[in-house]
Amino acid sequence: MNILVLNGPNLNMLGVREPEIYGSNTYEDLEQYIQDIAEELKLNVDIKQSNLEGILIDILHYAQDHYDGIILNGGAYTHYSYAILDAIKSISVPVIEVHLSDTTKREKFRRRSVIRPACLTTIQGHGFKSYKLALERFKQKGELTHDS
Ligand code: DQA
Repeated sequence: MNILVLNGPNLNMLGVREPEIYGSNTYEDLEQYIQDIAEELKLNVDIKQSNLEGILIDILHYAQDHYDGIILNGGAYTHYSYAILDAIKSISVPVIEVHLSDTTKREKFRRRSVIRPACLTTIQGHGFKSYKLALERFKQKGELTHDS
């Protein structure tokens, strides 16, 4: 199973940005964490990050023929990018929305995810572990698909 982890704007600033919310581990630590879990679960995982909406959209389109699942942390685009919503809807690869923080317990504008209706599920509020839970979800999904 080939999984793409796609991180949006400002996630490259982990460890520096608002450590009281996002913790003190860096983006490189997150990449290492994800790859360690991927190895345990025997999943092939590519990790990409961009601060630009158009690049995230291009990567989502590219994913159509290259991945079996996408774990997307859209950062702030989550809350207002109808273009990313449309990009998710334009591909058939299942997308799990993830967030490090619990967006339901923060500012009002973060409570709304415009991409959620196009996603399989949302996993948030567990820090790095949100990505682990999403990878496990895809692993289970893959096993179910193979059994049927
Ligand atoms: C975030 C939550 C978003 O509201 C915020 O804009 C981010 C990070 C998270 O992972 O908690 O950049 O997606």
